[in-house]
Amino acid sequence: VIRSIIRGTGSYLPSRSMSNSDFEGVLETSDEWIRQRTGIANRHIAGETETTVSMAEAASRRALAAAGLEPQDIDLIVLATATPDNTFPASAVQVQNLLGIKHGFAFDLQAVCSGFVYALTTADQYIKGGLAKRALVIGSETFSRILDWNDRTTCVLFGDGAGAVVLEASTGEGGLADEGVLISRLRSDGSHKDKLFVDGGPSTTGTVGKLRMEGREVFKHAVGMITDVIEDSFEGLGIGPDDIKWFVPHQANRRIIDASAKKLGIAPEKVVITVEQHGNTSAASIPLALDIAARDGRIRKGDLVLLEAMGGGFTWGACVVRW
Ligand code: ACO
Repeated sequence: VIRSIIRGTGSYLPSRSMSNSDFEGVLETSDEWIRQRTGIANRHIAGETETTVSMAEAASRRALAAAGLEPQDIDLIVLATATPDNTFPASAVQVQNLLGIKHGFAFDLQAVCSGFVYALTTADQYIKGGLAKRALVIGSETFSRILDWNDRTTCVLFGDGAGAVVLEASTGEGGLADEGVLISRLRSDGSHKDKLFVDGGPSTTGTVGKLRMEGREVFKHAVGMITDVIEDSFEGLGIGPDDIKWFVPHQANRRIIDASAKKLGIAPEKVVITVEQHGNTSAASIPLALDIAARDGRIRKGDLVLLEAMGGGFTWGACVVRW
């Protein structure tokens, strides 16, 4: 049996950060409102020379170093992003080039905030299918470039950043039989398009467009969708909330995370939270949180880690990984 195990993690955040109080005086908002409704205090914003590709490259190099591997060891790159550098070629191919890789293959994957869960599942299937041996799975986003900075209902919520993991084929020899990506559950429903979308695109307006969201509508659906796919994953593996060591959810809103954990019966001390410092970094939020929790010693070899995300589309999904 082939398993895809996580060999290393890496992340990158722009050095420029923006606190809630930086919005005060510019927009009719306050630190108190943003904190209370979202749990966000701070977010990082890409500088002029920082892009989805450059941040993805930096996160990937750190993940490779953590794994003790070279770029040449990689034969697949899946980059989850809704904010690519160009309409084409794919940002993943540009990362591949910056890493000096000329073998294997690379592509982008678009599932907005669920992008990393979709990308991890996709890379896992390529590895299990024998098409790749070692994959970089990346989430990288520059949402600052698609925000309407005059719209207080959206622009305070998002931030930029990137995270990456190295996924490697393992036959289980000398390792655990149940290691790596153990289960994935993915869903989508396009009838919710108008609740969270970008009002431009190459085939419609010929422009990039800006993010539009009915926040309250998204909120209303989030907890039910998230807990559904997680309960499905638990059932598939025959486990329960107590078996989970760490819950690493997509970081959109503290209230959604807390309500989901509570509904599932996952203890608050098992939840990894980065939304306070990063805001919502879309597809980057889970690999960023994984990297932080792996480097500070929380996530250790053998831990059962639950990942979950929900985003535009709607798309949603969950993965359970034995670290
Ligand atoms: N500062 C001050 N007031 C604000 C702000 C702000 N930044 N934004 C909105 N308000 C006002 C609204 O205008 C409204 O005023 P009104 O009552 O006079 O009309 C009031 O605050 C309440 O607005 P609601 O939208 O009802 O507030 P709510 O409690 O729902 O919080 C929020 C809004 C934070 C957006 C919440 O709905 C939310 O987090 N939703 C989920 C969004 C989300 O997580 N999206 C990401 C999904 S993942 C992805 O794919 C991108």
